Amino acid sequence: MSRLSIPELYEKYESNEPLTMLTAYDAPIAGQVDTSGIDMILVGDSAGDNHLGYDSTLPVTLEEALSLTAAVNRTVENAMLISDLPFLSYGTSIEESVKNAGRFLKEAGADAVKLETAPYGETTIEIIDRLTELGIPVQGHIGLTPQRMNQIGGGYVQGRGHDTSVTLEAIVDTATQLEEAGVFSIVLEAVTEETGKQVTEAVDVPTIGIGSGRYVDGQVLVITDVLGLGGDSLKLSKQYANLDSIIEEAVKTYTKEVREGTFPARENVYDPIDKSD
Ligand code: KIV
Repeated sequence: MSRLSIPELYEKYESNEPLTMLTAYDAPIAGQVDTSGIDMILVGDSAGDNHLGYDSTLPVTLEEALSLTAAVNRTVENAMLISDLPFLSYGTSIEESVKNAGRFLKEAGADAVKLETAPYGETTIEIIDRLTELGIPVQGHIGLTPQRMNQIGGGYVQGRGHDTSVTLEAIVDTATQLEEAGVFSIVLEAVTEETGKQVTEAVDVPTIGIGSGRYVDGQVLVITDVLGLGGDSLKLSKQYANLDSIIEEAVKTYTKEVREGTFPARENVYDPIDKSD
């Protein structure tokens, strides 16, 4: 088995098959997500607040993101593996951005990188142009861009055209510039459904929505939200399992059995003579 390539992704896109993507931050969960048949696995910088215990994505370092990607790479065989470039690991200069993005492919095993672009963000569009020219596949990310949260003022829906929300036109124009710069796909985060629809109509690359409605080419969610692991479910997401309660129950039962002396039991004990275990 080999991982989904960009031409294979485009075959699905051209035959109007909805594309599927989830985040993963560690080897065992990535392996399970992979064997369950997902198209793309993203080692998102959402690892910051969903895996590493930070308050946001901003503190995630390049070395942390590389290490999480390398772990995920060890168990992913079928899905395309995409890594987020952490805050300020790109954008400071083209040289630095190329060098850092390249490490995800050369050292950590990613197939592509994703990076956020502000409305009409000239700097990142130029960087994407250079990365794609060099053979580093790039997934764009527009709409709500969490790395700019301090500037936006919060997690506001984009495309409404007021103080905390850029216009639909700005998002569509930025998407077409990203397409020209060579992205193979665009993540659209928290935009109005009409914005999602118009971007999808305006570009010939797959759009992957999170909180961007029904008229996009695919969907992405954060794995911990999907599994119900640590925290409340957001409106844009859907919880398909409740691992929090499964973990709580398992830990309570283990603790109780140790305290009452029912674990370890006879079957958990090694025999001094029998060599079969
Ligand atoms: O970091 C992340 O998980 C993301 C998704 C929200 C697309 O960028």
